[in-house]
Amino acid sequence: MTQGLIVTGTDTGVGKTVFSAALAGALQATYWKPIQCGLAEGGDRERVEALSALPPNRILPEAYRLQMPASPHRAAEAEGIEISLSKLALPKVEGPLVVEGAGGLMVPINRQALMIDLFASWRLPVVLVARTALGTINHSLLSIEALNGRNIPILGVAFVGEEIADTERTIAEMGNVRRLGRLPLIETLTPARLADAFAAHFRAEDFR
Ligand SMILES: Nc1ncnc2c1ncn2[C@@H]1O[C@H](COP(=O)(O)OP(=O)(O)OP(=O)(O)O)[C@@H](O)[C@H]1O
Ligand SMILES: [Mg+2]
Repeated sequence: MTQGLIVTGTDTGVGKTVFSAALAGALQATYWKPIQCGLAEGGDRERVEALSALPPNRILPEAYRLQMPASPHRAAEAEGIEISLSKLALPKVEGPLVVEGAGGLMVPINRQALMIDLFASWRLPVVLVARTALGTINHSLLSIEALNGRNIPILGVAFVGEEIADTERTIAEMGNVRRLGRLPLIETLTPARLADAFAAHFRAEDFR
């Protein structure tokens, strides 16, 4: 069985890709973004290539590469296709796998299924990436409740942003989840700066 983790977020644009690049680098894992939308704006796979020191064979091709910057169900329809769960089986790889979702949990991948349904089918633990900025308590606790409702194991929350200790503590306590760490905002992202920030703020063992 593949050992891996799903990296999801409370929303689109919260920092899943940057965190995944750091995590995959720290674990010497394989990175996979199964569904990429909005390719015109640059894909996450290319971003992980640029932000991690992972060799190319540890960054897998997407199952779906879609142009429209929209929810997967809509981006697929715009290209006249329907995303099929049967094409989204977890790849078998050597070592750990880091899988990045598209957007947040309640994002439709077709007219029947949500991102969270796909995650439930994979039976891998989830890391929830959450901002520390205002609004995150609501988004984080809603996401945690949705994961619990489908019995998806939550490894913990990885925060992104400036330190707001009370917010981070409140989410961990009221959501009954582990706070894995917080990635600070890095002014100019480079692989070395990102790896240093991850090493300073997270423990790789927590993800193994
Ligand atoms: N720790 C960080 N330091 C500096 N900038 C960051 C950090 N994390 C994320 N960003 C920036 O915030 C933006 C969104 O981040 P990212 O692409 O990782 O989000 P995402 O959750 O993966 O989005 P999507 O839903 O599109 O996959 C990017 O411009 C990224 O460079
Ligand atoms: Mg991303």
